[in-house]
Amino acid sequence: MDYVKRIAQLRAEIERHDHAYYELDNPNIPDAEYDKLFRELQALEAQHPELITADSPTRRVGGKVLEGFSPVRHAVPMLSIRTETDTTIGGAQSFDARVRKELGLRDSDPEVEYSCELKFDGLAINLRYEHGLLVKAATRGDGENGEDVTQNIRTIQQIPLRLHHCDSTVLEVRGEVYMSRRDFERYNEKQREYGLPALVNPRNGAAGSIRQLDPALAAKRPLSFFAYGLGEVQGWKLPNTHSAVLDALHQMGVPVCDERTIAHGAQGLVQFHRRIAQQRDSLPFDIDGVVYKVNNLAMQSKLGFVSREPRWACAHKYPAEEQITIVRGIDIQVGRTGKLTPVAKLEPVFVGGTTVSNATLHNEDETRRKDVRIGDTVIVRRAGDVIPEVVGVVLDRRPANAGKPFDLFMQLNGQCPVCGSAIVRAEGEADWRCTGGLFCPAQRKQALLHFASRRALDIEGLGDKLVDQLVDGGIVSTPADLYDKDKMNIGALTGLERMGEKSAQNILAAIERSKVTTLARFIYSLGIRNVGEATAKDLARNFGRLRNLMHADEVQLQLVPDVGPVVAQSIVAFFREKHNVDVIEALLDEKHGGVKPQESEGLPSDERPLAGKTFVLTGTLGMAREDVKEQLEALGAKVAGSVSKKTDYVVAGAVPGSKLDKAKELGVAVLDEQQFLELLEGK
Ligand code: IVH
Repeated sequence: MDYVKRIAQLRAEIERHDHAYYELDNPNIPDAEYDKLFRELQALEAQHPELITADSPTRRVGGKVLEGFSPVRHAVPMLSIRTETDTTIGGAQSFDARVRKELGLRDSDPEVEYSCELKFDGLAINLRYEHGLLVKAATRGDGENGEDVTQNIRTIQQIPLRLHHCDSTVLEVRGEVYMSRRDFERYNEKQREYGLPALVNPRNGAAGSIRQLDPALAAKRPLSFFAYGLGEVQGWKLPNTHSAVLDALHQMGVPVCDERTIAHGAQGLVQFHRRIAQQRDSLPFDIDGVVYKVNNLAMQSKLGFVSREPRWACAHKYPAEEQITIVRGIDIQVGRTGKLTPVAKLEPVFVGGTTVSNATLHNEDETRRKDVRIGDTVIVRRAGDVIPEVVGVVLDRRPANAGKPFDLFMQLNGQCPVCGSAIVRAEGEADWRCTGGLFCPAQRKQALLHFASRRALDIEGLGDKLVDQLVDGGIVSTPADLYDKDKMNIGALTGLERMGEKSAQNILAAIERSKVTTLARFIYSLGIRNVGEATAKDLARNFGRLRNLMHADEVQLQLVPDVGPVVAQSIVAFFREKHNVDVIEALLDEKHGGVKPQESEGLPSDERPLAGKTFVLTGTLGMAREDVKEQLEALGAKVAGSVSKKTDYVVAGAVPGSKLDKAKELGVAVLDEQQFLELLEGK
C-alpha cells in the first residue's frame, strides 16, 4: 500500500484506540497490538519525515531531553483571581455585593448571572492553537512570561493536538493540568512497592511532571486537564457568556469539567458553595475551592481589572487538606495480610474536614526517606476518602531532643507486635511482614476466608459474615478450629445470630466434605505469601508429600519450575514459624482435625491406591466434578465418560442419570457419595 495512505490509516486507528482507552476508559485492543501499530507509524515517519504533522499521535511521546525550558511571552497576561478570605458564605455575599456596586445596579435591578466552577488544584497552562493545531503550551510563570512546556503537554492524552471544527487563526485555551486522586494513588502505590519515592500530593505531581525536562519521564506520569477560560483569540466570534465559551470549547474536544452551573445572585453562589462542599470528598480530583465568574462577557469587560485581578471573578476557598502538626509516636500496625505499616500518632489536628490523630507512613523506606522522627513537626494530608498520610517533615522545626531515625526491625525486636511471630522483609520488597499467617490474630479473618475459598478448601457458606461471627465470638481462631467438634458443633453455630439449625447443618456438612482435598489445594489454602494456585500445583506435583515441602530448603524449592528466590524465601519463612506448623499439625490430626490432602501426586504408580481403576460419575455430587476427577486421578484412577464392562465403580450423586441403570444392568459396583468419600479417605 501507498505509505501516505498507510500513515493516515495508522493515525486514524491509533486515535480511535486512544479515545477508547483514555476517554472511555475501555481499551479495545491489547497493549501489545497498540504498540505494534504505534511502532509501524514511528518507522514510516522516520523514513518520511516530511510527512510528520504536529498532530500525529507519535508527537505525544518521547522527544529529546531538554536543557531547560525556553521562555514564552504571553500574548494576553495570565492573571490570578482574588481569593475570598472569608471561607463562610459571607464570602459569596460580599463578592456579589461588590459586583453590583461596580456595575451600578440598584436593589430593584435583577440578580447578576454567574458561572460557578470548581477551583482545580494543579498547574495553570496556556494552550495556543493556530488554525486548530496545538502549536505551543506554556506555564503561567510570572503571568507575563511563562515556560515553553509543549513537549510535555503533548504527552497528556486528554489534550487535543487538533481542535474539532475550529478554524480560528488563533485560539488560546487556558486551564489546569492536574492529577486525579486515583492516578496519584496508583502511581504512588507502584513507587512504594518498588521502594521508590512517592509524590507528595497530586498538585506537586502535576507541576513536577510538567516541569520535568525528560519528556519520556513526564509521559509516565498520568495527568489530566480541564479548560476554564481563554487567552488570545483571533478569528473566532465569541459567544455572549463565559458558560457558552466553555460549552464551545467542549464541542471542540477540549476537556471541560461537568461540575459547573449557572447561578443567580448571592443566594445562588451560596447554594453552589454548599453543594460542592458536600461533594468535595467524593470528587475524583482535589479542589481547593470554587470560582465564581460574572457570566456575561460584556459585563466582564465593563468591570475590568484591579491590580492584575479581574473584578468579575473570585475564588471561594474550602478548609485546607494539608495541615501541620506534631508526631507524638510511631506505632506499627499489622494488616489483614500481615503487612506491617508504620503509623504516626499525631497531636490531633483538623484537616480535610475531620480531626486526625493517626496518619500512615506507608512503609519503612518512605519513613526513612522523609526522615520522620518522634517530636517532628510534619505536614499531614487528608483528601477525599483516602486515609490521612504524613507527606513531609518541616525540618526547621525539629527539636534538639527529636527521636532517632526510624528502624522497624529494631523497634519490634524482630517480632510481630500482635502474635510474636518472626517478621521478614523479602528482597526487593518494601514491606515488612509477619510470618505467622495461620496463627496471627490480625490475620485471622483473612486466613480463614482464604482457607475456605472456592479454589482452596472450598467450604461453601463460610463467607465474610460467618467468619466475622466465628472470630468475634471467640469460637474459631485458626483454620484447624473449624474441624474441632468441641468448637464447631450445632450448639455453637445455632447460638449465632441469624443461624438456623438447617444452615448450621449445611455448614458442618460442607466442612466435613472439605476434609478430602488435593495436596495442591491444601498448599494453596495455607495462604503462604507469593504462593498462588499455579505455584501450589507445581509444589504439590514436585514434592508429592506435604512433609517433603515443609522440610525443603531454598535450594530444593528453586528446583521447581517457576519458583524463584522470592517464592522460596516466603515458603521457608512460613514453615520456619512454629505457630504455623502447629496449626498444620492440628489440621492433619486424626482426632480433632482430620483433613486429608491426597498426597500421592507424583508418586510411583505402585504407591497409588486406585491405580488401574476406572470410575464413571453420574448425578450431582457435593464437589465440583472437576475436583472429583482431579482427586481420583491423583490417586491413580481413570475417569471415563460412559459405563462399560471395564468400569470398576459408578459414583452416583443426587438425581443420577441413565449411567446408573447401565451400571446395574452390567453389574458394576455403585457407590453413593458417602461411600465414595470413605473410599477416598482410604477407610
Ligand atoms: S479563572 C482571570 N477558573 O486558580 C481569571 N482559575 O488565581 C483566570 N484555577 O492558578 C483564572 N480553577 O490556574 C480560573 N475554574 C477556574 C480555576 C482557576 C483553578 C487556578 C488558576 C490560577 C488560580 C487563579
